[in-house]
Amino acid sequence: MRKNIVAGNWKMNTTVPEGVKLAKEVNEALKDATVKCDVVIAVPFTHLTAIDAVIDQNKLGLGAENCADKKSGAFTGEVSAAMVASTGAKYVILGHSERRQYYGETAETLREKVLLALENGLKVIFCVGEVLEQRENGTYLNVVKEQIEKSLFNLSEADFGQIVLAYEPVWAIGTGKTATDDQAQEMHAFIRKTIAEKYGEVVADDTTILYGGSCKPSNAPALFAKPDVDGGLIGGASLDAASFMGIVTAF
Ligand code: PGA
Repeated sequence: MRKNIVAGNWKMNTTVPEGVKLAKEVNEALKDATVKCDVVIAVPFTHLTAIDAVIDQNKLGLGAENCADKKSGAFTGEVSAAMVASTGAKYVILGHSERRQYYGETAETLREKVLLALENGLKVIFCVGEVLEQRENGTYLNVVKEQIEKSLFNLSEADFGQIVLAYEPVWAIGTGKTATDDQAQEMHAFIRKTIAEKYGEVVADDTTILYGGSCKPSNAPALFAKPDVDGGLIGGASLDAASFMGIVTAF
């Protein structure tokens, strides 16, 4: 049975003290809540060690928002998958559209990042999604299929089992425009079918597929009620413990 997951993506927000405070608030809130999903926060590299020290990772998983496509060496400013794992983090987000758009990450670099993350025992939350033009010209399904094929379909079945997919239509990220629950379901079912064609029905059924893009407490219940939507990747609404918990408890 696949897991439901709600993961926060803090992006480039909070200083270390602010981040530690927010992580503590979420960690505390989880103690009293009835939660029917795994909960993860992905935070800036600088925060990982300090946050690992104040949360219970049996209840609140910790992740990074990126890692390097190289193992180690003369790559000034980069942070390797091994470094991320050594902080205690268990997850890493890869392929976020902001990384693809603003930092030129390609399907090929992402393939390297995924391999290194898995080698270091990290679970990967791999983001895919189309831009508005592709939604409007009807190529969105193929765009997402290609993103998955090019960066993930080199993996063995066992390695693919460590991947969580996140469908994030770029036009819905931080815009307040959410995909409708039917639009999300259409894409999620298509992603699951694409996985089934490569790895078989069992693997496809076991794969967690998250929705991301202006997900909030008010729209999460309808999105999460869809059969192929297994949770969310939450940007803006994860920066406030109460609103994040509103989504966590939406199942
Ligand atoms: P948003 O971001 O919830 O602020 O739209 C989602 C994401 O980019 O992961």
